Amino acid sequence: MKKKIKVGIIGGGQLGMMLAEASSKLNIVPLVYSNTKDSPAARVAKTYYGDFNDDKKIRKFIGKVDLITYEFENIPTNSLKIIEKSIPIFPPISALKITQDRVKEKKFFKDNNIPCAKTLILKKISDLKKIKKELLYPSIIKTTRLGYDGKGQFSFKNFLELEASWYKLEKTPCIIEEKINIKKEISIIGARTPSGEIKVYPSFNNIHKNHILDITKLPSRTNKKTEKLAIDYTIRILKKLRYVGILCVEFFIDKNGKLVANEMAPRVHNSGHITIEACLTSQFEQHLRAITNQSLGKVNLIKPAIMKNLIGNDINNTKLIKSKKIFSNFKKSKLHNYKKAEIKSGRKMGHITFI
Ligand SMILES: Nc1ncnc2c1ncn2[C@@H]1O[C@H](COP(=O)(O)OP(=O)(O)O)[C@@H](O)[C@H]1O
Ligand SMILES: [Mg+2]
Repeated sequence: MKKKIKVGIIGGGQLGMMLAEASSKLNIVPLVYSNTKDSPAARVAKTYYGDFNDDKKIRKFIGKVDLITYEFENIPTNSLKIIEKSIPIFPPISALKITQDRVKEKKFFKDNNIPCAKTLILKKISDLKKIKKELLYPSIIKTTRLGYDGKGQFSFKNFLELEASWYKLEKTPCIIEEKINIKKEISIIGARTPSGEIKVYPSFNNIHKNHILDITKLPSRTNKKTEKLAIDYTIRILKKLRYVGILCVEFFIDKNGKLVANEMAPRVHNSGHITIEACLTSQFEQHLRAITNQSLGKVNLIKPAIMKNLIGNDINNTKLIKSKKIFSNFKKSKLHNYKKAEIKSGRKMGHITFI
């Protein structure tokens, strides 16, 4: 028998949990590094605890695995340096650095001729004056770093609201994006191996509630030309970054049908949870295949599906949610409970996929 590959996963949340679960199909042993006890991944894989900036513990963890991947994007720079020097890490840190910073991410889209929202930079007080003339209303202010699930962003309709929002964000460096008149949101998930093999899933249609993903639909029923364009952009990005692993690119389609790139995630993505039941290969298995340089699995759709996130107290109301009319056409459903220690409003507690 071939020796098993030990994959270290940084982050013990639900993404780490589902990665660990998928490894049983492959010749892989998952080991998790988590900064909190009782994390979802700890129930399915051997887990080591420590802060993400604890050099000593990070070094010890690296010593136990063959390569590193991550489910969590905000690994401190110093820890990244330690990992990078001693062991392969996928997706590549060069890609992570772009996606960690909205200014770099938008510049990357522009440099690669991928349309995105008009963006201004707000780093210091004097920038406020400078950008005043160029501002469009309404717009959205977003912190350049550490934003997720709509955290660290506000819409504003006039200059006073912008100032108030920036103060609420403690005047951290931000970008300001024109508000797109969104008809539809889609995401494209693709994978690339070190040998350069690429596979891209069909597009997913995402519906957000309070800036948090609520529902994903597959097929997305997107105009074929638009979907092809979004897939082409994603392939362009995978190649340009010499990417390895799963990448998700989020797009808006505006009221005129124009495709606009929003942001990228260098990891398995919430919208891709639907692939577990709906596609021949799940995004989690595909990610592990890619980072261990195995040939990629088929991404074909098996059955139409709809994924509903269970946010906060939803986890205690699954019966009611299942009885909703939009799910009534689906024959089967599969509940994924992340079994998080504490229910918090806005926290992703699980999801249901209707097939
Ligand atoms: N420029 C924009 N115009 C319109 N809606 C936006 C814009 N930027 C973000 N949103 C809405 O907010 C959601 C979250 O924003 P996003 O930039 O993806 O941040 P996060 O990192 O929190 O996912 C988007 O999916 C979209 O619904
Ligand atoms: Mg997003």
